[in-house]
Amino acid sequence: MFENTTFSVTTFGCQMNKHDSERIAGMMQALGSRPVDTIEEADFSIFMTCCVREKADERLMGNVASMKNIPLRAGTPLSKRYVAIGGCIGQRDGEQLLKTLKHVDVVFGTHNMEELPHLLQEALEGERTASVREGRDAFVDDLPESREHSWAAWLPITVGCNNFCSYCIVPYVRGRELSRPFEELVDLAQSYVDQGVKEITLLGQNVNSYGRDLYGEPRFAEVLDAVAATGVQRLRFATSHPKDLTDEVIGKFATLPNLMPALHLPVQSGSNAILKDMRRVYTREHYLGLVDKLRDACPDIALSTDVIVGFPGETEQDFQDTLELIDSVGYHQVFSFIYSKRAGTPAAEIEDNTPREVIQDRFDRLLKVVETRAYEANQRDLDTHIDVLVEGSSKSNSAVLTARSPKNQTVHISVDGLERAPEPGQIVRAHIVQAKTWYLVGQLEDAR
Ligand code: SAH
Ligand code: SF4
Ligand code: F3S
Repeated sequence: MFENTTFSVTTFGCQMNKHDSERIAGMMQALGSRPVDTIEEADFSIFMTCCVREKADERLMGNVASMKNIPLRAGTPLSKRYVAIGGCIGQRDGEQLLKTLKHVDVVFGTHNMEELPHLLQEALEGERTASVREGRDAFVDDLPESREHSWAAWLPITVGCNNFCSYCIVPYVRGRELSRPFEELVDLAQSYVDQGVKEITLLGQNVNSYGRDLYGEPRFAEVLDAVAATGVQRLRFATSHPKDLTDEVIGKFATLPNLMPALHLPVQSGSNAILKDMRRVYTREHYLGLVDKLRDACPDIALSTDVIVGFPGETEQDFQDTLELIDSVGYHQVFSFIYSKRAGTPAAEIEDNTPREVIQDRFDRLLKVVETRAYEANQRDLDTHIDVLVEGSSKSNSAVLTARSPKNQTVHISVDGLERAPEPGQIVRAHIVQAKTWYLVGQLEDAR
């Protein structure tokens, strides 16, 4: 029934969703459907959704609403287009989505992706169905996958989250934290390396708490050792909760040569009062202590973070504490978000009377500091020679390659006039000749 059909997967949200999308793509291909890049070309449009902030919700509704005007694809064997919604909004709203979005055929959640073929089958038979499972008992990740890039792999080592930060919806839509069995994940990493994967990113909402639910309680530091020992050229991980980042893991930045010198360590706020209301469990002093230890272990480590501005009750002084922390750490990158109230989370109950303009002004002031520090951080790489992993051509100019540095910076490399440009997935040596706020410019040396 799926022969000669096409599908697209549109992904919102975090890397976990991106990884899930790769598995959706794998499943659809196994059914005999062909992947296409745009919704217009697709018989089955699958949306992998995010509800971490209100904007993400709105984007989905806009996207799906605009679909009803798209005519039938030329050459399709089907009599209509099919729309499926999965991911975190699917998990949260389930059946309700079928009521509000009349041309949606299938809704599924984060714990039952493997049901999608069956649900689409029912849709082909004329039924609109929503199926969501409350949670799961064990880590399962055995669906076929179709990776976006052959040279890079995301490897989930945990799913779910037990932290219940007071503003965050993730634990409600992704369920309790479950760890992937140690041997299984190491074998998978090895098979990726054997297939030619150059970069593995270990994934979890909080990779540092890996193993607490497993027999023998293997620790995250042991995972790092074992995955590094597969010989993968570049190893990364995300995300780390500061309360669980151990000295042992910090030490790995000094001892494992293939662990890349970059760490995403979300701070959320620089004010102890706000951190407490956020239920983050650490203080700014603890966080700054971690930064010192990381820089002792790996002086050139590139740090990035997440910050929420305008959490309910945030005063100007609280905000100043955040600003001061961001200024003093000197991050390579800061993902800053305006607080977004999420129904069902404890923070949604806290009275919030800071005017919108005040929050926007704080956000703008934060961005200025972020930009200044990011620019300075990149200047330190000027005139260095580094190995970069080629990702593809730049969107705006095909004579420019985009590549990634060990510190996770974007590097633009001109290949104008070159007889043979390096291929995506190749690691090449570059001389950094310019450093901008958000990227570096390099000149190609020898390919390796
Ligand atoms: N597990 C990761 C983060 C997942 S969500 C961690 O703990 O680091 C990604 C980011 O979205 C969070 O770090 C936070 O900064 C932001 N975020 C989460 N809920 C939010 C909300 N209600 N409003 C604004 N930002 C939010
Ligand atoms: Fe959300 Fe906190 Fe869990 Fe991160 S650690 S996913 S911010 S609850
Ligand atoms: Fe969004 Fe779900 Fe990830 S809410 S951030 S896609 S876990």
